[in-house]
Amino acid sequence: MSLPDKVTIIEVGPRDGLQNEKNTIPTETKIQFIKALKQANIQEMELTSFVSPKWVPQMKDADDVIEQCLDNTRNFVLAPNQKGVERFYQSGANDIAVFVGVSNTFNKKNINKSTDESLEELKPLIADLKQNGKFVRACVSTAFYCPYEGKVPAEKTIKLCEAFAHCGVNELSVADTVGMATPKEVYQLFNSLKSIQPKNILITGHFHNTRGTALANIYASLEAGVDRFDSSAGGLGGCPFAPGATGNVATEDVLYMLHGMGIDTGVDIEKVIHAVDVVAPFMTRTLDSKLYHLQKATASTEA
Ligand code: HMG
Ligand code: MG
Repeated sequence: MSLPDKVTIIEVGPRDGLQNEKNTIPTETKIQFIKALKQANIQEMELTSFVSPKWVPQMKDADDVIEQCLDNTRNFVLAPNQKGVERFYQSGANDIAVFVGVSNTFNKKNINKSTDESLEELKPLIADLKQNGKFVRACVSTAFYCPYEGKVPAEKTIKLCEAFAHCGVNELSVADTVGMATPKEVYQLFNSLKSIQPKNILITGHFHNTRGTALANIYASLEAGVDRFDSSAGGLGGCPFAPGATGNVATEDVLYMLHGMGIDTGVDIEKVIHAVDVVAPFMTRTLDSKLYHLQKATASTEA
């Protein structure tokens, strides 16, 4: 068994985790959450997104969040279009995440454009971002299944990944948006993505845990050589335009599994759990995190 010695965790809780939350979460709480995650030694994080406040009201305070949270680690802000990229330049952030769905129907529901239209809009923007020395992450949604179209052929996902790679993005975050993928298909797709050029492009797995397969999918990805994973503290998350999609795999559950296998992440589990405490009172649904609930149950027995 040859698994990586080190894995990078990209914390997506402040963005993917909160975007779908119905309660308005105070900006100050979001900032406190992000800072607590940084205390846990998270080095890469999606902070927020530049999207329409009419479509995703929870992200309307993006500028205020960024202003308080930029530091010398990698802080991503999501942007789907020209307006989003313009806002990104004005914000002073250095790391951007663009996003497109492989499935046309999903992309239309999410961004109001076809997959090809989104890609065509983004191509010159990515070229410009690269010329300006920005780190560009491309999030590839519905890489396995679409909530509207069903199974997404691997060839279509590989084609979109290749198109992004050709644009010069630094990273591909390949997403199981609705948490329908299972380990064999995950292994096969990530194994195929190894041949993507250039060789130094970073490949990341992004798993929602809707059907409880996320940890198994991470293990399958590790076996295919993937050493970067998006996860969300407390298992928060879900895309407002992907019906049925629940949270991302919980960061603390991923850390427990990786650390137990001797894989270093540099991230402190206890401090991640402490960060979840900051936002937990604002959540309208039960958190999908084994470790968080176990810790709380143990603490109340000991009290
Ligand atoms: P639209 O209505 O087609 O936009 O929405 P438009 O270009 O026609 O413009 C309409 C209005 O929106 C205009 O304002 C624009 O200025 C404004 P008005 O003149 O009416 O006052 N606008 C914007 N405002 C702020 N920021 C922008 C922006 N663009 C236009 N960037 C749009 C198109 C993309 C804006 C809309 O569909 C949208 O905001 N969608 C949000 C989608 C979203 O945030 N989804 C969740 C993130 S993706 C995800 O979760 C998946 C991921 O986790 C991976 C996975 O799990 O799959 C990454
Ligand atoms: Mg997601």
